[in-house]
Amino acid sequence: MKDTFYVTTPIYYPSGKFHIGTAYTTVLADSLKKLNQLKGKDCYLLTGTDEHGQKIQQIAEKNGKNPQEYVDEMAQMAKQLWKTMEIEYDDFIRTTDKRHEKIVQQVFEKLLAQGDIYKGKYKGKYCVPCETFFTDTQLIDGKCPDCGRDVVEMEEESYFFNMQKYADRLLKYYDEHPDFIKPDYRKTEMINNFIKPGLEDLCITRTTFNWGISVLSDPKHVVYVWLDALLNYLTALGYLSEDDTLFKKYWPANVQIVGKDIARFHLIYWPIFLMALDLPLPKTVLVHNWIMMKDGKMSKSKGNVIYPENLIERYGLDAVRYFLLREMPVSQDGIFSPEAFIERYNFDLCNDLSNLVNRTVSMVNKYFEGKVPRHKENVNDIDETFESEAKKYIEQFEAKIENFEIADSLKEIWQLISRTNKYIDETAPWKLAKEGETEKLEDSIYHLIEYIRKIAILITPFMKDTANNIFRQIGITDSKQKMRDTLKDNLDLKDVQVTSKGEPIFMRLQADEEIEYLKNIMKAN
Ligand code: MSP
Repeated sequence: MKDTFYVTTPIYYPSGKFHIGTAYTTVLADSLKKLNQLKGKDCYLLTGTDEHGQKIQQIAEKNGKNPQEYVDEMAQMAKQLWKTMEIEYDDFIRTTDKRHEKIVQQVFEKLLAQGDIYKGKYKGKYCVPCETFFTDTQLIDGKCPDCGRDVVEMEEESYFFNMQKYADRLLKYYDEHPDFIKPDYRKTEMINNFIKPGLEDLCITRTTFNWGISVLSDPKHVVYVWLDALLNYLTALGYLSEDDTLFKKYWPANVQIVGKDIARFHLIYWPIFLMALDLPLPKTVLVHNWIMMKDGKMSKSKGNVIYPENLIERYGLDAVRYFLLREMPVSQDGIFSPEAFIERYNFDLCNDLSNLVNRTVSMVNKYFEGKVPRHKENVNDIDETFESEAKKYIEQFEAKIENFEIADSLKEIWQLISRTNKYIDETAPWKLAKEGETEKLEDSIYHLIEYIRKIAILITPFMKDTANNIFRQIGITDSKQKMRDTLKDNLDLKDVQVTSKGEPIFMRLQADEEIEYLKNIMKAN
């Protein structure tokens, strides 16, 4: 078994500035990459932009630009955002890259030659913003079932992919690979809503516009954006190219992360394309819900849009990453509201985490001149209970993150933080100091630093700067003491000296003021 980890995000439609919701997938993918890297795996994270199609052509025209000029600017903007959000991607693929276009053309010819693609006539309804064809029965009140907008009548010569041929094979695959779709309820949705009613063959070329990859053997056709876009996961790794080292090393992906709106493309079409190409399927496709606003979707007209930069500038990157990951349940949408954001900041980050570190560092200074007591036998009555509960939270974190239950796994870390805060109250170090119980005091302070060290290790993939700040303040400088494989042990913290002047990592915010501030920003956006 290769010890590699390949994680992908969907490639983004470069149709404007990315709002906070769109950043979710990529922050999550980046955190999973960092976590697996810390587990010693060789990791690869792919992201990029999905630059073809009628929609992009139209937006570019509206902006008075030619499509290439437009997508160049947009790709640059996306890269800038990922830099601001400290996303450590390994490759940024653009579907206008020659390396991608060339292989898409080859794949098309291959599928045509083997009979999976055939030429026919398309007549039906098309949603331009979603770049999707629909049958009459799929429409809701005559409108696009995905975005609710008007659809247009379309008739043109097209190539089709024979989806029906693969339907049974796909169902069998779902059945035999319970980890393929996460969470599980998305599988039921696919089966009941799309596969059981009968998979329609998919129209995969267009002739009425030209901003796309042309079909080699019939150049008046351009490849449908979804076939083009999905193949990025392979072309980025050099599939069918002269150098396919990365492809051999990383494919099949461990996890491909997608939002619920594009689940169908990744859970039905994508596996079928892979089957047709005789390639293994990704181990898991993780479908997440959406970050919504209290009044529904984010939109400029509602005046409820918030951009990641708005929040990062004022509250720092880690607070934003934490909020996004913590606020999205597995089975429901996550809600962004100024109130919820400030509450998480003040309670989880400031009261729970920052205060724990701050109180502890000042006690080490006060009672031991900054030198952390060494590990000895547990002497406080409540040590055993504390340790076994703390261990349970760490185990539950590991189990949940393995199952990609991100918000719940962060919740386990915060349970551990609360439990460690409770340990301060239980041992009451100030009382021990007053009563001259030196041994018990040493034991209590040792445990606090040791569990803060573990907490910093656990949050590293999600909030790197905060973790490093904690390590620095509690005097953990040895990289071995920052490693995940030390989570199970209690280390002997010899020569560990905390900072002489602790600084709060997160300062309490004036809630009313900040909520007002955010509301104004949202109106102005
Ligand atoms: N270009 C396609 C993907 C092609 S993949 C071969 C696309 N792009 S997108 O820019 O519209 O969306 C990118 C990702 O952001 C998708 O996973 C989408 O679900 C996600 N999100 C868009 N809005 C979102 C929220 N409000 N909340 C969470 N994720 C959201 O789809």
